[in-house]
Amino acid sequence: MSQPQGRLLGLGVGPGDPELITVKALRLLQQAPVVAYFAGRGRKGHAYASIESHLQPQQIQLRLEYPLTTETVSGPLSYDQIIAAFYDRSALSVAAHLHEGRDVAVICEGDPMLYGSYMYLHDRLAADHPHQVVPGVCAMLGGAAMLGTPLVYRDQSLSVLAGTLPAGELHRRIALADAVVIMKLGRQLAKVREVLQELGLEQRALYIERATMETQRMLPLADVDPASSPYFSMILVPGTRWQA
Ligand SMILES: C[S@@+](CC[C@H](N)C(=O)[O-])C[C@H]1O[C@@H](n2cnc3c(N)ncnc32)[C@H](O)[C@@H]1O
Repeated sequence: MSQPQGRLLGLGVGPGDPELITVKALRLLQQAPVVAYFAGRGRKGHAYASIESHLQPQQIQLRLEYPLTTETVSGPLSYDQIIAAFYDRSALSVAAHLHEGRDVAVICEGDPMLYGSYMYLHDRLAADHPHQVVPGVCAMLGGAAMLGTPLVYRDQSLSVLAGTLPAGELHRRIALADAVVIMKLGRQLAKVREVLQELGLEQRALYIERATMETQRMLPLADVDPASSPYFSMILVPGTRWQA
């Protein structure tokens, strides 16, 4: 009889505070024989750092280390090609455990299906393997809670934008929005701030770094040094307050 396949588990582990993992994700994490996590070169990885204290010594840890630290690539292959090949290799490493009947918990910072690295494994493996995804507290909601700001009232709509969009595109989309979350900041900060200034929104915009982590910082957008703004930062422009 053939061995039953292991399950691919995409577990959202929350925005950083180790207590912001769900009861379900924690249970599945601790029961999984294999825990896989993405991390930058020489880095622990934010998702890993937030669940490290929950791991059991007998669990196999599968570290999936990004081959690049920046998006600047020289050589015959583009950044996208190098990253796609990395996700292909990562999927093979995960699948090897699944074929042996071992469940693999892939931990993901925030929610797995919102700009989550888990998605690239899901896209490659979910069609052929039993799988389960557990949602997590996403960064923008962790950020709103820490900033103490309601995001959208009544019939307002929320736009979630990547700071990597070109300035003109950001301008167009923010101008149409009631409320905005801008993620993937880091080196994009100066550009994004300029767009918000053009739209007269700099005063309404709230900036937060490493929300819910011990190293969290909140400061006026005007005071942020673009050279030191980390990738794990966000800008929230809440919807205008509705007086109930
Ligand atoms: C690849 S996305 C991951 C999003 C995540 N899956 C989620 O559900 O929020 C990374 C971006 O999320 C935002 N981010 C994630 N965690 C954050 C945190 N704790 N504080 C501030 N921003 C965070 C940053 O904008 C960062 O560039």
